[in-house]
Amino acid sequence: MYETMEALQASCAGCTRCRLCEGRTNLVFGVGDPKADLLFVGEGPGYQEDVQGEPFVGPSGQLLDKLLAAIDLDRQNGVYIANIVKCRPPQNRDPQPDEQDICLTWLREQVRVLRPKIIVCLGRIAAQKLIDPEFRVTKEHGQFVERKGVWMMGTFHPAALLRNPAQKPDAFDDFLALRDKLQELGL
Ligand code: URA
Ligand code: SF4
Repeated sequence: MYETMEALQASCAGCTRCRLCEGRTNLVFGVGDPKADLLFVGEGPGYQEDVQGEPFVGPSGQLLDKLLAAIDLDRQNGVYIANIVKCRPPQNRDPQPDEQDICLTWLREQVRVLRPKIIVCLGRIAAQKLIDPEFRVTKEHGQFVERKGVWMMGTFHPAALLRNPAQKPDAFDDFLALRDKLQELGL
């Protein structure tokens, strides 16, 4: 049992639990406020994230930062950001189900240490893993569901928004709903 995010991160460093360890430059554990009430979960590191060892630092990260700024949040204050898998899949392919399940052991520990009040899933992979295996982002984005005292919501992956900018207004609405939920919970 790890008491702090730092201790957990130290124990995750060098992880070889799944095959994704083979191709990584850096393991991308997570970043943000270790006291955050709000956790964002993406899919897995891309090229820039693998190089820098930090989640969402490439183009999709810049869009995520803009969406956060639009509701007066930033990645260092009240927010923690992690991914379903912590090592970059080759050629940015989807993480495979066994890789997701193995790496989820780390994310579960992160959730246990952080005790977030809200978890926002960025994209299909995270939402299907954490909310519902049948989750459809286009249909169910922005809807909050409560699970064991934690509010969960799935929204568009920023990389999907870059490919399909027509969905940006819907994503923006989801962030406004998130702002309302934070207010409702007094966070
Ligand atoms: N996409 C993700 O899902 N996670 C990152 O950290 C970066 C891009
Ligand atoms: Fe370990 Fe996760 Fe990296 Fe696999 S993806 S090696 S489980 S940290």
